[in-house]
Amino acid sequence: MKMSEVLREARKYEELTERSIRAEERPVFHLSARVGWMNDPNGFSFYNGKYHMFYQYHPYSSIWGPMHWGHAVSEDLLRWEYLPAALAPDEPCDMDGCFSGSAVTLPDGRQLLMYTGVSMEGLPDGSRSERQQQCLAIGDGIDYDKYSGNPVITSDMLPEGSSRIDFRDPKMLQMEDGSYQVLIGNRPADGSGQILIYKSRDAFHWEYKGILSRNLCRFGRMWECPDYFELDGKSVLIVSPQDMLPEGFEYHNGNGTLALIGHLSEDGSLCEENDQAIDYGIDFYAPQTILTPDGRRVMIGWLQNWDTALAMREKKLKWNGQLSIPRELSIVDGRLYQKPVRELEDRRANKVSYADVMIEGEEERNAADLTEDGQGTDRAFPGVKGRCIDLTVKIRPEDVQTSFDRFIIRFAAAGAQFSMLTWRPKEQVLKIDRKFSGSRRAIIHQRRALVPSEDGSISIRLILDRFSVEAFVNDGRQVLSAVLYTSQEADGISFSCRGRARVDIEKYDLI
Ligand code: FRU
Repeated sequence: MKMSEVLREARKYEELTERSIRAEERPVFHLSARVGWMNDPNGFSFYNGKYHMFYQYHPYSSIWGPMHWGHAVSEDLLRWEYLPAALAPDEPCDMDGCFSGSAVTLPDGRQLLMYTGVSMEGLPDGSRSERQQQCLAIGDGIDYDKYSGNPVITSDMLPEGSSRIDFRDPKMLQMEDGSYQVLIGNRPADGSGQILIYKSRDAFHWEYKGILSRNLCRFGRMWECPDYFELDGKSVLIVSPQDMLPEGFEYHNGNGTLALIGHLSEDGSLCEENDQAIDYGIDFYAPQTILTPDGRRVMIGWLQNWDTALAMREKKLKWNGQLSIPRELSIVDGRLYQKPVRELEDRRANKVSYADVMIEGEEERNAADLTEDGQGTDRAFPGVKGRCIDLTVKIRPEDVQTSFDRFIIRFAAAGAQFSMLTWRPKEQVLKIDRKFSGSRRAIIHQRRALVPSEDGSISIRLILDRFSVEAFVNDGRQVLSAVLYTSQEADGISFSCRGRARVDIEKYDLI
């Protein structure tokens, strides 16, 4: 392999700098940037007996910069081992960054990466403009050579009126007949988003095929990071729209995530039957999926959102950016369900459970009223605490007559610091709130989701891993994820209820 100076430098830098980060300073089983900045998951694949995860990566600082691809491998999707950076911006067609992309295995056993190469082009009027084109790199699971024929999908292969600037995030699919297709996010003339399809016999020579889906300015504008799969008899397109407007409790302002569920029509475009947000929390974006060897569709996203990431320009963090817990997907009643991968169950220890306990009472108060141990006047249970845990709480009204107005679960709590989930059964609204989590910035701290519940009961499975919370609601019908900026000593968990509710609690440490 001929390695460029840019990649050699990046590899040397990450290896040296990584040594200053202690294991306790990272999440336990969420993949975090080896050093510096991380955004989207890329090239999520199973290759030569291991799961491979690449990611958008700027090793040299904790803010976004010229994009490299970081790389890690895992046998169980939870314990990740870093490998040297796979790609660096070192060719004329990717000088300004190796943006997001995907991976497939070639028939000869080599791994093929397709990514978006960003470069500048001169325009007829003499000005210069960014250009995004699709490029290949071929490798053995550690070292990758950029293909000499790059770019393989150029901006001249776009349908009429399509943006040459917004043309990115190729997701390659291996077809049953051995051929390939790739989905690419693009901005058509109306300024919104569309997902283009290109096809190829050999994965090196590509031609334009058509349009899988058009946004038509319905869900935000440009659609980033498409992925597509068939699951439980449905066709599913997932995209990450930019510039969304809120729609009830379903979609929120800014960058979001969207699943379009339906079936493919004869012309190869997606016929939509349902649309929904993928995550209803604060931090989740640009997910990618794979089919595991045992046939599960598993999704991992970037556990962050762009507005927060751009607002919190702290240059001196040792690492900035982590990926979500891998989630097993299914379609139930036309909706996307997500569950933490079952491998997580092998990491459970120290079970503590309480069945059918009554929680009643809530005092008017704010963070300052909490007692030293963070429990305040809430009800806490011996053994139910921790920052790296798997906690399921099933809440139901005492009986039909004595319902409750709201139920609060506080977690990552100590002194004046805590985060919380508030369930209001009458409004059917579940809120995630990290306002008192220790955050010192004017970022989004709360988000609400509409959770249908006939009798006010709800089941919430909380996965905490040092710097994050992911709440899987009602067996994964909805998920709310958020990054936590709370010191690790804050490990208290407590419950309160305006009214009377009965709960089952089951908690495991994750080790
Ligand atoms: C999504 C995204 C992609 C792009 C990458 C750049 O978060 O904007 O569309 O490829 O990040 O880092």
